[in-house]
Amino acid sequence: MIERTQVAIVGAGPAGLMLSHLLDLAGVRSVVFETRDRAYVEARVRAGVLEHGAAELLRASGAGARMDREGLVHRGIYLHFAGARHHIDFDELTGRTILVYGQQEVVKDLIAGRLEAGGDVRFEAEVAAVDARLGEIRYLQDQQERFVQADLVGACDGSHGVGRRALEGVSVYEHVHPHSWLGILARTPPASEELIYAYHDHGFALHSMRSPEISRLYLQVSQDEDLAGWPEERIWEELRIRLGEPSLPQGEILDVGITPMRSVVVEPMQTARMFVAGDAAHILPPTGAKGMNLALADVAVLSVAMVEWFRSGSTAALERYSQDCANRVWRAQRFSSFMTSLLHRDAEGDPFEHRLRLANLAYTVGSRAAAASLAENYVGAATDGVVFDPSLFNGVAR
Ligand code: FAD
Ligand code: DHB
Repeated sequence: MIERTQVAIVGAGPAGLMLSHLLDLAGVRSVVFETRDRAYVEARVRAGVLEHGAAELLRASGAGARMDREGLVHRGIYLHFAGARHHIDFDELTGRTILVYGQQEVVKDLIAGRLEAGGDVRFEAEVAAVDARLGEIRYLQDQQERFVQADLVGACDGSHGVGRRALEGVSVYEHVHPHSWLGILARTPPASEELIYAYHDHGFALHSMRSPEISRLYLQVSQDEDLAGWPEERIWEELRIRLGEPSLPQGEILDVGITPMRSVVVEPMQTARMFVAGDAAHILPPTGAKGMNLALADVAVLSVAMVEWFRSGSTAALERYSQDCANRVWRAQRFSSFMTSLLHRDAEGDPFEHRLRLANLAYTVGSRAAAASLAENYVGAATDGVVFDPSLFNGVAR
């Protein structure tokens, strides 16, 4: 006997879990397959900034209680360059704020919510293949091959997953940025109450945080950097120099890793019954803090389209899904590329490019229009226009 479900979801990251959560609010059954175990997924250190709209989405769908208790509301960011610090006040420029709340906290909240509601999330269940036309999933669990037949498939399995491989006839737009980020999670109180994005002769640095005790820090490094070249002393010294924080306290390093920077967009985000969302559909350089936000926005749109199909049989919204996402995806790509080139030293250290970058930064902080442009994109590029209406999600028969 082959198992059946309404929606098979590949991947228990923010996109897959949120899709399952939103579908459940409408009474649509789903099964989430995750190749890793629960502890691994909940401990994976990644993004940390929720846009205004992403926070609203979590809140409106009933998944925002701990986020509202523990998330840090930030009304702006600092840009630090040429030895001076400048504040971009999002609240004043746009009337909106952002929330600093780790991606793994969002993931923990969504997993707890799904399991409490009796949701079906299968860990250590690796999807080996998706048949996008038949809606069939082949997966491996307890060393056994199993099959699930679904009406629709949500491929939320990141950029190297099986969903991407099962797409047919799509265009892939890709750009590799010639840098990587060294990311550090450290037990040390944040040196600033808001994020600091710094541009220095040595390259970019970012000071972020997770709590009043834990800082999240990043350094631009070369594309093929070896972690072995970054002993702790060097990391702290470089952070102090680039951030202009000579007394940045050194703390225990809890996690460290190097992430390359890519921009990818796959279009259309659909083949037959399978729909891709989040990193499976697009990758952004992290400078704009958009990856997790875009993943949540995609599934907000996708869940409405799926519910409409289950409710009325109409394929119109499903067919429009990719088109409905395209503007937001490209706007977030534009902003992420803008932030990346604004703040990263080019690999050759070209003096003309360096002076041009300083002029761009001076203009960004000196012109209200330029600062407002940065602010409105930082608080909204990934989620603007995405409306979550809880009333849409009532009354669908299981
Ligand atoms: P993911 O979170 O990648 O979730 C996909 C899930 O699918 C994973 O749990 C994976 O284990 C699972 N999976 C994969 N293949 C299979 C399979 N065959 N079967 C079953 N399950 C499968 N964004 C920022 O804004 N700022 C940052 O600082 C930042 N740092 C990042 C650092 C790293 C190392 C990475 C990889 C990404 C980072 N991002 C950052 C991007 C952001 O974290 C992603 O955009 C976000 O995770 C997207 O969510 P998602 O649900 O689409 O994908
Ligand atoms: C964080 C990550 C980002 O990429 C960013 O732009 C801002 C903050 C973070 O991990 O806190």
